Amino acid sequence: MAGIDSLAERVGGLRGKRVLVRSDLNVPLDGAPPDLRITDDGRIRASVPTIKALADAGARVVVAAHLGRPKGEPDPRYSLAPVAARLGELLGAPVAFATDTVGDSARATVDGLSDGKVAVLENVRFNAGETSKDDAERGAFADQLAELADAFVSDGFGVVHRKQASVYDIALRLPHAMGKLVETELAVMRRLTEDPERPYVVVLGGSKVSDKLGVIDNLLGKADKLLIGGGMVFTFLKAQGHEVGRSLLEEDQLDICREYLARAEQSGVEIVLPTDIVVDTTFPSGDSSPSPRVVPASQIPADCLGLDIGPDSAAAFAAALVGAKTVFWNGPMGVFEVDAFADGTRAVAEALTKVDGLSVVGGGDSAAAVRTLGFDESAFGHISTGGGASLEYLEGKELPGIKVLED
Ligand code: 3PG
Repeated sequence: MAGIDSLAERVGGLRGKRVLVRSDLNVPLDGAPPDLRITDDGRIRASVPTIKALADAGARVVVAAHLGRPKGEPDPRYSLAPVAARLGELLGAPVAFATDTVGDSARATVDGLSDGKVAVLENVRFNAGETSKDDAERGAFADQLAELADAFVSDGFGVVHRKQASVYDIALRLPHAMGKLVETELAVMRRLTEDPERPYVVVLGGSKVSDKLGVIDNLLGKADKLLIGGGMVFTFLKAQGHEVGRSLLEEDQLDICREYLARAEQSGVEIVLPTDIVVDTTFPSGDSSPSPRVVPASQIPADCLGLDIGPDSAAAFAAALVGAKTVFWNGPMGVFEVDAFADGTRAVAEALTKVDGLSVVGGGDSAAAVRTLGFDESAFGHISTGGGASLEYLEGKELPGIKVLED
């Protein structure tokens, strides 16, 4: 599939060309406007190589991205202004910022770019056309975006599973190419799905089973072991007949969890569930100090909720990763943002750093977790920028933002 070099050939060189890059700059922020602080800039750093390569080639780089899920209109809580500032720091060069997406500010900012310079447009989701389910409405916004550029580079891996104007429709309107980040991410995803080296161990966590159904379904035919922690584990424990107190539970997913447990047994896939759980009587909040205690996974008290896997489980999960040649991990094991409930996630991250093979941390919360917990990123084979996107790839789903580049 075509990368930036082939795009340069197709458009007669990039110098002086306006290239719209769709990046995924959806980073976690702390605080309230105007004092928003980026708590994990991983996605911005991952976006730099493509932006820099285009700028170095003399392109006038226009970065389009989203932040959070605003409701199709400007909302200062989701402004990309702090992100543009951070991008400038990382590039070591000034980055212009348009205070709208396709309006007067965007047009003036793009017109003002000289060769090799970079601008960031305000959050594309401030325009309802970006995420509209209506093809015409999305197309109309894509038309406006396309007017700002001569070519399109798709580099927001985290958003390629979305059929949205700046991801999908714009590629139908401009000469296009895949950015370096998308190329790298896809190469790793292929290694996870096309004949992975064995043993292949998958660790899943995060809050909801319902988000992971497709991926579990698909992996039951591919992985050798499936370790399950995080909030989603309580639905599995309940499916096994245990009481889970006030822990997160998706009653409507109990049958499917039972089916997965049975299928795993039939197909020889080992599903490893925690045997002990760290519980508390309330979900951690700023107002109270946690009183964690460890209980057997089969005896969660009625007034408690599970907030992390326990120490025995953490050790068992780490042991299950020894000798693995391919590991994919998505979703924290507990409420890692709070120290008292971070040990399970820390133990899994630590075990991944020791894997002598391909270890992949799949996007979103787990990527943020390894950085927040102070791990050196280079200790992992790959830290994906795509949470939902990498899961959908592993589910075997077609990703619209990738498919459109192939056509
Ligand atoms: C993500 O955070 O997974 C991506 O940026 C996509 O965001 P979305 O789920 O709001 O589309």
